[in-house]
Amino acid sequence: MNKKIAIIGAGSIGCYVGGRLAAAGANVNLVGRARIGEAIRQHGLHVTDYLGYEQQLPLSDTLTFSESLDSTADADLVLVCVKSAATAGVAQDLAKHITPSTLIISLQNGLNNAAVLREHLPNNYCLAGMVQFNVINRGDGKFHQGSEGGLECEADSATAPLLPLFEASGLGLEQPQDFLAVQWAKLLLNLNNPINALSGVPLKEELSQRDFRRCLAAAQAEALSLLNQAGIKPAKLTPLPPHWIPKLLTVPTWMFKLLANKMLAIDPLARSSMWEDLEAGRKTEIDYLNGEVIALAESLDSQAPVNQSLIELIRDAENGGRRGWSASDLRQQLHV
Ligand SMILES: NC(=O)c1ccc[n+]([C@@H]2O[C@H](COP(=O)([O-])OP(=O)(O)OC[C@H]3O[C@@H](n4cnc5c(N)ncnc54)[C@H](OP(=O)(O)O)[C@@H]3O)[C@@H](O)[C@H]2O)c1
Repeated sequence: MNKKIAIIGAGSIGCYVGGRLAAAGANVNLVGRARIGEAIRQHGLHVTDYLGYEQQLPLSDTLTFSESLDSTADADLVLVCVKSAATAGVAQDLAKHITPSTLIISLQNGLNNAAVLREHLPNNYCLAGMVQFNVINRGDGKFHQGSEGGLECEADSATAPLLPLFEASGLGLEQPQDFLAVQWAKLLLNLNNPINALSGVPLKEELSQRDFRRCLAAAQAEALSLLNQAGIKPAKLTPLPPHWIPKLLTVPTWMFKLLANKMLAIDPLARSSMWEDLEAGRKTEIDYLNGEVIALAESLDSQAPVNQSLIELIRDAENGGRRGWSASDLRQQLHV
C-alpha cells in the first residue's frame, strides 16, 4: 500500500519535498495556509530542480491540501516543515491527532526542533532531519530546488520502511551517525542567512562581494572557535572541511570564483528564507541560528560579538529598521 505522508507547513520545503514524494507514488497531504492551498488548487503543484527535474501535479485523491492537522491521524510519516518558532505550536496540535505508530521527522534548520517535538509527543518516534538544498517559492504553486544536496536524518531503524520511497523520489534520506555534527555544520552555513537578508540581494550576488564574505567568515570563525572549545567537530558537508571555509571566503573575488565555483552554483535568483521572512514582515529564525552560537558562547562563559551584532541588526530589520546594507557598511558595522 502507498505510504501516507502528512507535510506540516506547506511552504518552500514542505511543498517541494511533498511534491517529490507524491511524484514517487506516496499519498501526500500538504497542511498549510489558505494562500498556498489556493495557488496549488488553481495552478497545480509544480516542482523543478536545477538539474532539469520537472513535475506538474494537480491536487487529487493522492495529493491533497488542508488547513488542519486532521489528516495526520493515520499517516505513516509526518514531516514538520514549519519555521522553528512554530514547532512547539505544531507539536501541541499534533498531540491531539496523532497515533504512536506515526514517525515524525523535523526537516528544519537549527538544533532543537526534534527535542521540542519529543517533549510534546513522548509516544512517537521524533527524529531530527536536515534539508541540504535551497528551495525557492516562485509563486503560483511553483517550487524550485536551486542548489545541490539531498535529505538527511538521524540514524534510526524506524525509517527503514520509508527508505525505498525517499530513494524513488530522488531526494534520498541519508543517515549519518553523528547528527549533531551535521546540524552544526549546516548551522555554520546558515550563518549566511542574516547577512543575505540584510544585503537584500540574491545569494549569488551577495557571495560575489568580498566584504559580505568577510562578514560571513567572521561569524563562522567565531562559531568554529567556540565549537572547538566545546569539543564539537562539525561534519564536512562541503568539498572543504568547515574550518577552511572562513579562509576561502576571505580570498579576493577572482580567486573565490575560481576556487569556490560549487558555492556559487546557486540559482541567480535564490535568496535565504530569512530574507523572505523580512520581506513578508514575519519573525525570522535568527534565535535558532546565530542565537545557538550565543547560547554556546554563554555555556562556555565566553562571547560571540559578531553573531550578537547580526542578531541585533536582524531584530532591528524585523521591527522595520535598516535593510539593504552595502557590503562595506555591514563589514564596518560588524567591525570585521
Ligand atoms: N527555504 C529553504 O530553502 C530552506 C532550505 C533548508 C532548510 N530550510 C528550513 O526549513 C524550514 C522551513 O522553511 P521554509 O523556507 O520552507 O519555510 P516557509 O516557506 O515559511 O514554510 C512554512 C509554512 O508553514 C506555514 N505554517 C506555520 N505554522 C503552521 C501550522 N501550524 N500549520 C500549518 N502551516 C503552518 C507557514 O505559514 P505562515 O507564513 O503563515 O506562518 C508557511 O507557509 C525552516 O526551518 C528553514 O530554515 C529552508
